[in-house]
Amino acid sequence: MSDREHLIIFDTTLRDGEQSPGASMTREEKVRIARALERMRVDVIEAGFPAASKGDFDAVSAVARTIRESRVCGLARACAEDIDGAGDALAGAAAARIHTFIATSPIHMERKLQMTPDRVLEQAVWAVKRARNLCDDVEFSPEDAVRSDPDFLCRILEAVIDAGATTVNIPDTVGYAVPQQFGALIGDLRQRVPNADKAVFSVHCHNDLGLAVANSLAAVMHGARQVECTVNGLGERAGNAALEEIVMAVRTRQDALPVDTRIDAREIVPASRLVANITGFTVQPNKAIVGANAFAHESGIHQDGVLKHRETYEIMRAEDVGWATNRMVLGKHSGRNAFRSRLLELGVEFESEAHLNEAFARFKDLADKKHEIFDEDLQALVTEAAQELEQEAVRFVAMRVCCETGETPVAVVTLDVSGEERRAEATGSGAVDAAFKAIDSIVQSGTQLLLYSVNNITTGTDAQGEVTVRLERGGRVVNGQGSDTDIVIASAKAYVNALNRIVSGQVRTHPQAAGV
Ligand code: KIV
Ligand code: ZN
Repeated sequence: MSDREHLIIFDTTLRDGEQSPGASMTREEKVRIARALERMRVDVIEAGFPAASKGDFDAVSAVARTIRESRVCGLARACAEDIDGAGDALAGAAAARIHTFIATSPIHMERKLQMTPDRVLEQAVWAVKRARNLCDDVEFSPEDAVRSDPDFLCRILEAVIDAGATTVNIPDTVGYAVPQQFGALIGDLRQRVPNADKAVFSVHCHNDLGLAVANSLAAVMHGARQVECTVNGLGERAGNAALEEIVMAVRTRQDALPVDTRIDAREIVPASRLVANITGFTVQPNKAIVGANAFAHESGIHQDGVLKHRETYEIMRAEDVGWATNRMVLGKHSGRNAFRSRLLELGVEFESEAHLNEAFARFKDLADKKHEIFDEDLQALVTEAAQELEQEAVRFVAMRVCCETGETPVAVVTLDVSGEERRAEATGSGAVDAAFKAIDSIVQSGTQLLLYSVNNITTGTDAQGEVTVRLERGGRVVNGQGSDTDIVIASAKAYVNALNRIVSGQVRTHPQAAGV
């Protein structure tokens, strides 16, 4: 770590990232991602919004009890129920933070909260004091700050810092800012708020105009010392500032940026893969740092240059962000202990022997089909094994598909529905279409398919295909995942997984719903 000023990396993949449609995660999945973030040496992990549901509370609590090296944060609206709930959920944390917020833009105050600015200020101060009684690290956010009156922002920030806020976060909630203006706003607030030196200034940028990272870095140039971001830029609508881009911009352009982070960048790609696998939000190939093509050189001139002298066209090394970790780790003859210890190294601790056994059985099946098993394969099979043990109402049992040139594809699917085997046959425009129709004729879900996507987990024709299916019913959106070396089977598993999630889902409160 250099002696430059420290930029705090606040990761909100498990909270704002989870607000992406269908990206909700189970407790076990959140713990796995939190462990990956801890290995990456993220400073603060926002683990969720405990007031959203009992499941969310339990997930924040599990993350708080597990993570020792990063601070764990819980989000709370500026009301007693949320703040006290966050305090309870964070009780087991080695280091905790309560993040409370209230909207400050005229449109949000008038239309959403129906509160006057004075009432909002009073509520914010009250909320910060209540949170400070539970936790000595409290962050306050004036939601929709970018569209708020700067004079009002100065008043409210001064008041909450006086009330005990240790971090004040300036969110661009709707992704409206442009870099020069946003940087100037942060500089201005730091100058005009009389007690600004008593709190860390943070920023939280959404990517609606594709400017989240640029806006965050502009803020850093004007004194922000915490950036809120997510792995792969996951988040509501167009997402949040991407963690990997912030970290690597800071690292690569030390000449231009006055800060440094403590992030272990070699953990970036493994964390990216894990988040994509768990949420079903795959990474576009040309995505900076973590896209499959981010370090691939196509044109002859570039290749020639890179071979002669790497820096001709490369500003970062692929292995420095974790690309080299894509190596064969286990094979057909690996035993249970090797399997368990590699997963431990990846941060996966099995909840029970049953979980280990289920995952190991899947590993053996996969090793029969595929010579080389990579870390990404292991992560995918752990996700599936956990699904299997979730006691899903519908389970995929078997499938037979018949496809022939010039003939209509037919699928025969067998499912286990609450302990009873059911079988159906359907035709479709392709094998996947036929399989989905056969499944739906058994389950009769009444869902609408919003997204179907296939990705290969590793390279080669024997690689596992990882399929994401996004379904909607009655306004609720879920993602399901499935993986297999056969992509039609992976598709059927993903569809069944999504159906189970839509049936079993709890009702969750959205944090940005009015609730003061
Ligand atoms: O975008 C936003 O304003 C938020 C707040 C809750 C910080 O996510
Ligand atoms: Zn946000």
